[in-house]
Amino acid sequence: MTDMNPYGELMLLSGTGNPELSDRIAREMGMQLAEMELTRFADGELDVKIAESVRGHDVFLIQPTCHPVSENLIELFIILDALRRASASRITAVIPYYGYQRKEKKTQPRDPISAKLMANIIELAGANRVICVDLHAEAIQGFFDIPVDALTATKILARRVRERHGHDVVVVSPDTGGALRARRMARLLDAPIAVIDKRRPRDDTVEVVNVIGDVAGLKAVIVDDLISTGSTLVGAAVALREKGATGVDVVVTHGVFTDGALQRLHEAPVDEICVTDTIPFPVGSRSFDDAPKLRILSVAPLIAEAIVRVHEGRSVSELFR
Ligand code: R5P
Repeated sequence: MTDMNPYGELMLLSGTGNPELSDRIAREMGMQLAEMELTRFADGELDVKIAESVRGHDVFLIQPTCHPVSENLIELFIILDALRRASASRITAVIPYYGYQRKEKKTQPRDPISAKLMANIIELAGANRVICVDLHAEAIQGFFDIPVDALTATKILARRVRERHGHDVVVVSPDTGGALRARRMARLLDAPIAVIDKRRPRDDTVEVVNVIGDVAGLKAVIVDDLISTGSTLVGAAVALREKGATGVDVVVTHGVFTDGALQRLHEAPVDEICVTDTIPFPVGSRSFDDAPKLRILSVAPLIAEAIVRVHEGRSVSELFR
């Protein structure tokens, strides 16, 4: 243990949520993932055996809580519990995609606030801090009573926009809730912004009420936190083309892609769909051949750098300046 490292040696572990991303992060850091065996009891319940001692170590457990959400969550809770009981000196839950984040407030009477419930259980299970990427609402940070380093992929996505179009774009938020996100991207690109006023009568249907801002004659870049059914982005792309945008790219941090979403986006007036690797792809039968418009950028260097900085007690916010 050194003065720079009051938490003991750094250790990296991975759940099964996104093993490819965990490998990429480990490679960026020039480290190996610690060995861990996940097994099932006869009735399907999960068990974990961490093969090496974690006593006194500064442990980072990488586990996005993406599809299958309940499985990935329970895995996260159980591994955290094992690490806590094995006397790790500090445990950081690295959650590149935070499941249930869209349920962060009550919108109707008798609604749950599932994002808060998940935060409670993550803390209770043993996490001492959290690293995550592009939360749906920044207020989710406050659902935890432990430090949260809320990273953002905005710079990574902005670099791609600059590569394709220079600064000659209008950055569009597909709903009023994402205006701040769009403004951040626009600032990096020195570009104007537009905001779409949308209504969502059903989970898989979106109605565009209005496009606020000037998009005619410009390449539009829609920025969002996640793509689930794709309805938001398809509705936005159609509305932008109708208002005279000369092309539409979408840049999004989390590619949740429920069934049919990628196809829907490929059939829409969208030129490129750029997501990061917080969630694994391809899933099931989907492959890159079915998705020629899709481009995936890695957040592994960003997360690796954040882990090193947290471990060494250095500023993480410097990463965004
Ligand atoms: C909404 O507030 C979010 O930021 C996303 O725009 C939305 O969740 C995307 O969902 P879908 O792809 O199903 O329209």
